[in-house]
Amino acid sequence: MHSFEIRIYGDEVLRKKGERVETFGSELSPLLDEMVETMIHEDGVGLAAPQVGISKLISVINPEPGKNSTLIKLINPRIISHSDETESFEEGCLSIPGIRANVVRPSVIRIEFQDEEGRKHRLKADGLLARIIQHEIDHLNGVLFVDRLSLAKRALLRPKLRELAKRAGRES
Ligand code: CO
Repeated sequence: MHSFEIRIYGDEVLRKKGERVETFGSELSPLLDEMVETMIHEDGVGLAAPQVGISKLISVINPEPGKNSTLIKLINPRIISHSDETESFEEGCLSIPGIRANVVRPSVIRIEFQDEEGRKHRLKADGLLARIIQHEIDHLNGVLFVDRLSLAKRALLRPKLRELAKRAGRES
């Protein structure tokens, strides 16, 4: 099965803000299909286009792998509001293999996004879905979950992150 290769921490594309998608429909579908395939192949609950080297505001999300019913495709998503209440939850990332850490984020969010046909939608999310969406929208802005950790925690992870970045540098 063909799927994209995942870009690893240290790859510059992960730090670029994605471009808005202006073309929908049949031109966009093959890319979305391949992103979904890659996410399933990698056992991820979400995948953002920059993670496969494409600097566009696109993410696919599947909070319950194995169930296609929970699959959401987000084009040009943005958070329009969030709760003051936050929660801490452990995150990982396909682009940062071997590292997991608790990240504090708003518990409830409202987002606006477009589907693959360009239709606009609004969605209120909490729990795991809110968590994944925020992680993915961060990717679209060039932000990684390790950026949201305390300085002390990041200092602890620095050697591992350097190791990943070295590996990414060698491959590119
Ligand atoms: Co990620």
